[in-house]
Amino acid sequence: MPYNGLYARSGLLASIIERRLSLHQCLAQKEEENRALKSQSMQLQALANLGSATCMIAHEINNLLTPLANYAALAAQNPDDKKLAEKVLDKTVRNCQRASKIMQSMLAMANGQKQKRETVSVKALVEEVFTCLCRDFGKDGIRVEIRVDDALEVSCVPVQIEQVLMNLILNARDAMLPGGGALRVSAVADTDHIDLVVSDTGCGITPENLKNIFRPFFTTKTGKDRPAGSDSGSGVGLAFCRRIVDAHGGEITVQSQSGQGSTFTIRLLRVPPLDPR
Ligand SMILES: Nc1ncnc2c1ncn2[C@@H]1O[C@H](COP(=O)(O)OP(=O)(O)OP(=O)(O)O)[C@@H](O)[C@H]1O
Ligand SMILES: [Mg+2]
Repeated sequence: MPYNGLYARSGLLASIIERRLSLHQCLAQKEEENRALKSQSMQLQALANLGSATCMIAHEINNLLTPLANYAALAAQNPDDKKLAEKVLDKTVRNCQRASKIMQSMLAMANGQKQKRETVSVKALVEEVFTCLCRDFGKDGIRVEIRVDDALEVSCVPVQIEQVLMNLILNARDAMLPGGGALRVSAVADTDHIDLVVSDTGCGITPENLKNIFRPFFTTKTGKDRPAGSDSGSGVGLAFCRRIVDAHGGEITVQSQSGQGSTFTIRLLRVPPLDPR
């Protein structure tokens, strides 16, 4: 091989080796950057989870405490009504216990911790929600009908599904103010699923709003058009309901028409009755 050719080849080899080395360095640097970005993104995700847990907790605790404060104020105005005072104390104890359970459960959910599911009676879930609600529906002209078979059981994190039911029931009540109407909570089962259904005869939802109701912070409950005594909405109730039901591997759906009431259905896995054989 002529001297020049050999020289040219070894020069080429050297430049290939140099290029490889620089590519290795570049790769190592990119890997380091990638690691740093991943850790940053995990920290941001943890912060986002914490933010959403805080928002959920504030929303749910507000659902419990606002009516309780009104109820306690009523008792304070009627100091001689011992029965009322007893009821207020009973609700206070229950709702405080419930608030503590909600906080634990929502924080665990935000941390991505798997929570223990329990097999519970559907009727007990529904009754617990009505026990925590302070204002009597009858006083707002709302007739309540509960149609749930005693034997139906579902596998869930009870405090979470109770929160879903509470949000749906509070929305139904809002939709029927101030005129009143009928609220029905029922459960229908097939072999594998239970459908928990909350329906009302309230104002219904326009097709335009129906597309948005599960979006966080979407609300139509703004101050000026609200019936006297009702609060404005924060628009997070249904977004949380969907998140909870999704975490249970279930599904939440809605059927509604403007002026014709609304029906929300939560589909969950059923616990089948024991085979008597
Ligand atoms: N049963 C219902 N009847 C009519 N409209 C409803 C019903 N349920 C929900 N909506 C509509 O969906 C919107 C979003 O509901 P969501 O529960 O998420 O928020 P909100 O009730 O406005 O406020 P909050 O966060 O305090 O619950 C409501 O503002 C309302 O327009
Ligand atoms: Mg709501």
